Parts: sequence; C-alpha cells; structure tokens
Amino acid sequence: MNILVVGSGGREHALIKALKKNQEIETIYALPGNGGMAKDAVCVPIGAKDIDGIVKFAVENKIGFAVVAPDDPLALGAVDALEAAGIPSFGPTKAAARIEASKVFAKELMKQYGVPTAAYQVFTDPDAAKAYLKTAPLPAVIKADGLALGKGVIIALTLEDAEAAVSDMMENKVFGDSGSRVVIEEFLEGPEVSVLAFTDGKTVRPMVSSMDHKRALDGDQGLNTGGMGTIAPNPYYTEEVAERCMNEIFLPTIRAMEKEGCPFKGCLYFGLMVTKNGPKVIEYNCRFGDPETQVVLPLLKSDLLTIMQAVRNETLADCPVEFSDGAACCVVMASQGYPQHYEKGFPITLTPDTDEITTYVAGAKLGENGELLTNGGRVLGVTATAGSIKAAIEKAYAAAEKTHFDNAFYRRDIGQRALNKE
Ligand code: AMP
Ligand code: GLY
Repeated sequence: MNILVVGSGGREHALIKALKKNQEIETIYALPGNGGMAKDAVCVPIGAKDIDGIVKFAVENKIGFAVVAPDDPLALGAVDALEAAGIPSFGPTKAAARIEASKVFAKELMKQYGVPTAAYQVFTDPDAAKAYLKTAPLPAVIKADGLALGKGVIIALTLEDAEAAVSDMMENKVFGDSGSRVVIEEFLEGPEVSVLAFTDGKTVRPMVSSMDHKRALDGDQGLNTGGMGTIAPNPYYTEEVAERCMNEIFLPTIRAMEKEGCPFKGCLYFGLMVTKNGPKVIEYNCRFGDPETQVVLPLLKSDLLTIMQAVRNETLADCPVEFSDGAACCVVMASQGYPQHYEKGFPITLTPDTDEITTYVAGAKLGENGELLTNGGRVLGVTATAGSIKAAIEKAYAAAEKTHFDNAFYRRDIGQRALNKE
C-alpha cells in the first residue's frame, strides 16, 4: 500500500518513521515534506494547504491511506475532500477541527458540557473588551479566536499590555481575521501536561503523556515558540490525574463533539494544566503536537498504521494501543534568533541514528550536491529513548553535542522540571 502524509516538520518525520515499521507499506509520500526526510519518504512539492493538489495527487497515485498532520489543512477540510474522493484518511473533518480552529467554539463546548477550563468572556468589539479588562484580574490571558501560528495567546501582566494585545488583535489585525473575536480568560497556574489521544469519535485511547517547553530560553525565559523540547512520560500526570482527566475531560469532550454533530476522529491533543483545583483544559489541538510527537511515537509499541485505520474505521475499541515503560527526551536544535529573525542555508552534520537515538528533521532542505542545509527556525529534534527520564535526557544531550550547524542553539534544561518532580 502507498501512504501519503501531509506536512513538513519534525512531527511529520516522526509519523513517517513510525508508519514505516509496517511491512505492508510500499511507499510513503510526504506533501511537501523536507529534505531531511528524503531517506524515509518521497517528498512531493505540493503545499500542505493546497487541498485540490493533495486530492489530485492521492487519486492519481492510488494512495491507500492518507494522514493529514498540520492544523491548517485540517481546518480547510482536507480530510473531508480526501474521503469524498475515496481516499481513506486519518484526521478530523473540517467541522471537528473547529475544536482548535476556533477558541470560541472550544470554550463554549467546554462550558456547555461542563469540561473544566479557565473562566472566560468572548468579545467581538474592542471597546467592550478594553472596558472589561479594566475590571478583570491580572495577569489577563487574551486569545485570538482563530489559528495564529501558535502566537495568538498573550499573557498580559499590566492593563496597558492587555489593552495593547486587544488593539493588536482586533484593530490592527496582526493575525488577520483570526483576531476578529477574542477570548479573555482567567490565568491558571500549575504544571502543564500534553496528552495526545487517539479517538474514533466514541472510544478514546490516550497516548503516553508528555511535557513541552514552549519558551525559547532556559528557565522558561524568552519568547514563546512552537516548542523547544519535550520529555515523556510527564511525572505530573499521575495515575490519579489521569483518571480524573479521563472522566472529567477526555470522555466528556468526545461525547460533546458527537452530540454537536461533529464527532472527532483522529488525534486530539489535550493541553492541560494541573491546578490545585484539579486538571483543566488550556487548549485543544485537532492534531498531533510538535515536538510532543517526537517523544510519544518512539515509545509506541503497537503498529501506528493499524491504529490509524481503526480510528478511521471506528473500530478503535478493538485495537490495542500499547506504549513501552521507558522514557524519551527530544531536544530541539534551532537557528539562532528563532522565533524571530534567523539565517538559513548552513550545512548540517547529523549524529547517526541508533536504536535509541533518532534525529527528526524539521527545517532543512537538500542543497545542490545533496547536502543537508538548515531551512527553518526549528531545524532538528534530537531524540533519545531510555529506561528513565534522566537517562533519556543525558543521551539526547550527548547526541545534540555531536550534531552541528552554524548558529545552532538549544535549551540546556529540557526535562529538568520533570526530574525535579521525580
Ligand atoms: P496556546 O498557544 O493556547 O498553547 O497557549 C500558549 C501557552 O500560554 C500555554 O502553553 C500556556 O503556557 C499559556 N496559557 C494559555 N492559557 C492560559 C491560561 N488561561 N492561564 C495560564 N497560562 C495560559
Ligand atoms: N507543542 C505544542 C503544539 O503542538 O501545539
């Protein structure tokens, strides 16, 4: 069977590497993929948002199964279009992808179905939002309604910053139409946990928990990024927390989506905060997280394609989803200056992969002589698996030290918070 994976980052590389373990797969096509995946997949220069192009390619190349990984094509209806063309596909429909694509939709769903989350108000008028802020507690959390490349959340410590965030989103339209509506919500405190879960709309199978490190610099300083590294499992996700999450968050969310007429099939990402009043939802994503996927999938023992097909065929209840007892750590090597301005085009020297070390390539391309060159902000995800979090961290850093490109930088404290908890 030939498979297609839509997307181009480290997450997609991890998906492709995990899918490849299935012996029935002949060729994996990555649309568009990146130069660093060329050994694992055939990269085809069709953009992830080119829905017509993706469907045409899938039909012409007799694709047996398609995996749509990023949020944008999901929100544009890529899975609806592929399925309509007869291509079995993994990922939520456009209607179900609203759980990420509209923060207002997600907040209203949680309120209506009693899923614990931060208290909030929705505004369509900037003056009303600013008037509300004068009475709201600080810090204030201001979120653009729509997709904003992970930058649509501002945590304002002062009233001035909060008002400026409202002006930027609603008046200056820095996120385009995504800021036409904003959510202003209560500031929550506690360790964050990411849980990716397979669901076919009825059954939910959480994967091993993980912890992202969103800020650019050590000690959670600097700007918010797409994620500078991850560890799994997350020690704050105790058995007790997991049980509460299943009963108070995961199952109620799945049932709510079904009741709303848009059952969620695919990977649902629960961004959670373990507050002193119990676990609460910070955000939903309608897809695998990046770089969470780079630590979760190396620990998956079951066959990924089989699970994805069970999700699509709504037979997940009969499908085993098993993870190893080990741990994993992913250190993201980025270009100096990320998440703002950075240079590209530097040659990359990789550490060879082993059974326990894998480098997932996120932002790279092949040069004229087939050499690998940097081509993005987040360039590599150097990942190690081991028997414990401590050992995984040590191995990942040892591999990162042997990996090289000019202007590389990475956080030195990935996993430290988890180790301190342990
Ligand atoms: P998001 O882009 O929705 O993942 O949000 C980015 C980050 O902002 C999250 O990972 C949290 O660290 C933080 N955040 C979002 N909402 C809240 C909230 N209500 N209280 C505290 N922190 C938040
Ligand atoms: N790592 C956070 C995300 O994928 O949205």
